[in-house]
Amino acid sequence: MKILVVGGGGREHAIIKKLKENKNVTKIYALPGNGGIARDACTVDISAVDIPAIKEFALYNGIDYAVVAPDDPLVLGCVDELEAAGILCFGPNKAAAIIEGSKVFSKNLMKKYGIPTARYEVFDDRDKALQYLKTAPVPTVIKANGLALGKGVIIAETREAAENAVKAMMDDKIFGKSGESIVIEEFLTGPEVSVLSFTDGKTLVPMVSSMDHKRAGDNDTGLNTGGMGTVAPNPFYTKEVAAECMEKIFMPTVRAMNAEGRTFKGCLYFGLMLTPDGPKVIEYNCRFGDPETQVVLPLLKTDLLTVMQAVSSGTLSDIKVEFADKSACCVIVASGGYPGSYKKGCLIDMPEDVAEKAYIAGATEKDGRLYTSGGRVLGVTAVADDLRSAVEGAYAMAKEVKFENSFYRRDIGARALSALKED
Ligand code: AMP
Ligand code: GLY
Repeated sequence: MKILVVGGGGREHAIIKKLKENKNVTKIYALPGNGGIARDACTVDISAVDIPAIKEFALYNGIDYAVVAPDDPLVLGCVDELEAAGILCFGPNKAAAIIEGSKVFSKNLMKKYGIPTARYEVFDDRDKALQYLKTAPVPTVIKANGLALGKGVIIAETREAAENAVKAMMDDKIFGKSGESIVIEEFLTGPEVSVLSFTDGKTLVPMVSSMDHKRAGDNDTGLNTGGMGTVAPNPFYTKEVAAECMEKIFMPTVRAMNAEGRTFKGCLYFGLMLTPDGPKVIEYNCRFGDPETQVVLPLLKTDLLTVMQAVSSGTLSDIKVEFADKSACCVIVASGGYPGSYKKGCLIDMPEDVAEKAYIAGATEKDGRLYTSGGRVLGVTAVADDLRSAVEGAYAMAKEVKFENSFYRRDIGARALSALKED
């Protein structure tokens, strides 16, 4: 079988490595992939958002199955185009991807169907937004409606900061069109949990839970990033919480999307906060998380392609999706300066056994050597019987990765480990 994976980060590398475990897979193309992914797939220099070029490539190369991983091609309708050309896909169509593509849509969906989330107001007029802020409680959370590379959320500790955030989004348009409408919402507290799920629009199978570490610095300091490391499972996500989420959040979301004529098929990602009033949805993503995928898929025991095909054909209820009863930890090694500006083109030095296991996110290859090309350069994942050993294993590998100005957080998994101790 010839498979095409749209995307080119650590998440896509993890998906590709997992797909390769299926003996029927003869060739995997990554569009565009990256220098590290090139070890595991045939990389093709086509942008993940160049949908006409992706479609032409897929048709010309006789692709049997396509996995569209990133948010932007999904929101732009890549799956609709490929399916119209007769190519089976994993990923939601454009109508369903709006669950991530528009925060106004997702907030209104949750309100309409009684799915727990933070209280909110929507504004497309800056004066009305500023007026509202005069009496809104702080801290408050300001969110750009559209996609903003994961940066469209500003948590304002003071009224002045909140006003500045509104002005930055609506006057200065720091997120372009994405900030033309904004959501101002209640600030929630509690541990965060990421739950990725497979759904074919009828059945929903949650994957093992995980915990992201979004800030650049130790102890959750510094700027927000795409994610500096993950652990799975998330110890805050107990069996009881999982049952509550299934009943009050997961299945109601599947049914709500069906009722709206926007059946979701693919990986539906629930970003949850376990508040004192119960679990609430912070955000939906229409795709696998990055770097959650780098800890979740290594624990998946069932063949990934089989699960994906069951999602596509609407037969997810016929298969058993199993995860290993183990723990995983992924530590991201990044370029100094990220998420601000950073140097590129630095030679990456790491032992072969680490390179084999690493999920490469931002690197180019030249003469058999890898050079940095992104902020998040790579992730190293260790799987072990318990979380402590997984964390130690990931750090043992991270230590061996060397390039100029590299850095990684030293506390990935620390909060999860202390939660386990309290048990
Ligand atoms: P997002 O880009 O939607 O994942 O938001 C980024 C981060 O902002 C989340 O992971 C949360 O830590 C935080 N956040 C978003 N919404 C809220 C909220 N209503 N209350 C508290 N924190 C939030
Ligand atoms: N790790 C968060 C995300 O993928 O959106």
